[in-house]
Amino acid sequence: MSSRTSEVLVVGGGIIGLVTAWRAAQRGFGVTVADPEPGGGAAQVAAGMLAAVTELHHGEQTLLGLNLASAQRYPDFAAELTDFTGQDLGYRRCGTLAVALDADDRAELRELHALQRRSGLASEWLTGRECRRLEPMLAPGVRGGLRVDGDHQIDPRRLAAALLTACAWVGVTFHRGWAERLDVVRDRAVGVTLADGTALTADQVVLAGGSLSGRLAGVPEGVLAPVRPVKGQVLRLTVPARRAPFLQRTVRAVVRGGHVYLVPRENGELVVGATSEELGWDTTVTAGGVYELLRDAHELVPGITELPLTETRAGLRPCSPDNAPLLGPTGLDGLLLATGHHRNGVLLTPVTGEVLAHALATGELPDVARPFTPRRFSRTELPA
Ligand code: GLY
Repeated sequence: MSSRTSEVLVVGGGIIGLVTAWRAAQRGFGVTVADPEPGGGAAQVAAGMLAAVTELHHGEQTLLGLNLASAQRYPDFAAELTDFTGQDLGYRRCGTLAVALDADDRAELRELHALQRRSGLASEWLTGRECRRLEPMLAPGVRGGLRVDGDHQIDPRRLAAALLTACAWVGVTFHRGWAERLDVVRDRAVGVTLADGTALTADQVVLAGGSLSGRLAGVPEGVLAPVRPVKGQVLRLTVPARRAPFLQRTVRAVVRGGHVYLVPRENGELVVGATSEELGWDTTVTAGGVYELLRDAHELVPGITELPLTETRAGLRPCSPDNAPLLGPTGLDGLLLATGHHRNGVLLTPVTGEVLAHALATGELPDVARPFTPRRFSRTELPA
């Protein structure tokens, strides 16, 4: 079968693969992307919250540093991509309000507030009345909340579309096919073989296949990305013009232990997410998933039941053992990873593109990404 040669081959054309390809091509590399459906992947389902502060979790302080670094890059990144492509990304600096519906939620949110303050992050505690003054559609029972003006949003579908355009304009070649096997010659990755038998060769291969990155045949066992799929079901509703503005900012809560968020776009779309399910490769939208999301969102904002429900969909977050991404060179020469972004793929898009382009050019990770080397999971570095 035919063999096509490029300097950099990116396996996976979701937003992480596309941003890597765009930034690498800007550095002068000849780049090919292999994906049956470039621009697809988890971004087609994601809500697009840029929530470094409201999605902070105990034990994820190192990841916080990377999340904040990427959040800081977002304004310039969005402006550059918009200028370059002429495409609107739906980037809104709208802020986020995380609210509590009962005493347990309130205690949990207080705990999050304390953690945010210890981490030097800006967030403000509000009473229930203050929350409702900001967002009049909130349920009367809201007990209090956290106002985080620095957590914004972007429309991931528009982001993917713009990255596709940007890649095309800098000369990235697209090859529409599934990568079935990594080709390794004398302990070096030299390309992939696609499902139709086509061999694509390259000096460097970046594996950015989301959850599928852990399944590529031919990758030596100690180098295989330890990522698993975590299912998220997400709903899209439409706010009719006569009901706008329904919500001004992202509103979120923990209800009965499950996270629910409502992300209002300027075009009237209201995204409600998300379940988090360890069900392997299953992407079925279930009655139970839709019911739970609507039930919890209704407790938060009762008026949503009057809105048209326009879409239900499920996607797969690529999750690593420590919930943080795997970025850069691996134990196999010529193979780099850009996967494992879990809940933060959209947020981490700007910094991932920058880090991977740097790693491709220099063979090294920049300081901001050193803790996220895939080598942290390699067998030889595990404690005895
Ligand atoms: N970051 C939101 C989610 O993963 O559902």
